[in-house]
Amino acid sequence: MSKLLLCCLLLAASTGWAFNHGQDLTDFHSYMDNFNKTYASTSASNFANYYFIYNRNQVAQHNAQADRNRSSFREAVNQFSDIRLIQFAALLPKAVSTVAAAASDPPTTQMAATAYDIIKDFGLTVAVEDQGVNCSSSWAYATAKAVEILNAVQTVNPTPASLSAQQLIDCAGMGTGCSTQSPLAALNYLTQMAESYLYPEVDYVNDNSLKTPGMCQPPSSVAVGVKLASYVSVADNDDDAIMRYVSNGFPVIVEYNPATFGFMQYSSGVYVQETRALTNAKSSQFLVIVGYDHDVDSNLDYWRCLNSFGETWGEDGYIRIVRRSNQPIAKNAVFPSALA
Ligand SMILES: *[C@@H]1O[C@H](CO)[C@@H](O)[C@H](O)[C@H]1NC(C)=O
Ligand SMILES: *[C@@H]1O[C@H](CO)[C@@H](O)[C@H](O)[C@H]1NC(C)=O
Ligand SMILES: *[C@@H]1O[C@H](CO)[C@@H](O)[C@H](O)[C@H]1NC(C)=O
Repeated sequence: MSKLLLCCLLLAASTGWAFNHGQDLTDFHSYMDNFNKTYASTSASNFANYYFIYNRNQVAQHNAQADRNRSSFREAVNQFSDIRLIQFAALLPKAVSTVAAAASDPPTTQMAATAYDIIKDFGLTVAVEDQGVNCSSSWAYATAKAVEILNAVQTVNPTPASLSAQQLIDCAGMGTGCSTQSPLAALNYLTQMAESYLYPEVDYVNDNSLKTPGMCQPPSSVAVGVKLASYVSVADNDDDAIMRYVSNGFPVIVEYNPATFGFMQYSSGVYVQETRALTNAKSSQFLVIVGYDHDVDSNLDYWRCLNSFGETWGEDGYIRIVRRSNQPIAKNAVFPSALA
């Protein structure tokens, strides 16, 4: 089957002819319409078509397992379904921190509640952002969201303005803002430099079509930004600390390995990562943990995390990830801890 498809794909790529017909082609065309896809050449379109069919079948097989309760999460075709998993992994290269942490002492906290959700418990309306496919910028999107949520909680504003990830990419990225940067760069920029306020998205517009960081722009003279006084690092594997901070109203940023079919095409339920993916992390996606609870359907504990793949990805832009001691989520975890 796959050899046959490959042979036809190569034929199609070399001759420029479409290689499949009927339902698969119809499905690919509706996929292109639904996700606003255009391709630069016939051969690019043929490759996209080939991987779309492959990924769509992978989703169907996975969901058949979920239907039999052999998986606790479901997948769906999405904006990444026209590329190979290896390309998806390459879009999100492993983060390399270029700065030393300037973290502060942790805030005083109360004991963790058994379940908590910052967004739901404070009744916040927080817009989900889409980092696009051209710039690996989750470090900036996650930091902007964490600061936005902390500010909303501490100023009791249930409808905070979205803060600019683009400002962090342009002004704090230090040349790797679209590749391997980490949230430490953004947090250092916001805490260590007296003049650096984080401005609303309306004053410093996000442009997820850019492939490289732009010039750091001065904000408009009327823009009112958020100033951060400090941030805190959490030791790797210390999930208890993350629970305590989230439970006390601090959204925590964690580094996660996104390079699996399950994450790439996650749509709902409690995501459980394959063991192989846990040990061979070569990609990074920064997520903001906003809550944790227990899922009755799968009987699993989970973390609820805000991603930046848009609101059509996952559960309205969020992913629930299994919460258990042999798969700790605390990795290069940091959170904004005080406003200035
Ligand atoms: C596709 O474009 C339309 C019109 O610009 C927009 O309303 C829609 O949200 C887009 N869909 C996706 C998945 O980006
Ligand atoms: C990615 O960048 C290319 C080249 O700059 C641009 O033409 C394209 O529209 C961008 N793609 C998206 C999905 O933003
Ligand atoms: C699905 O499996 C889980 C764990 O194996 C179990 O706790 C749960 O009750 C099952 N759900 C159904 C609907 O069978």
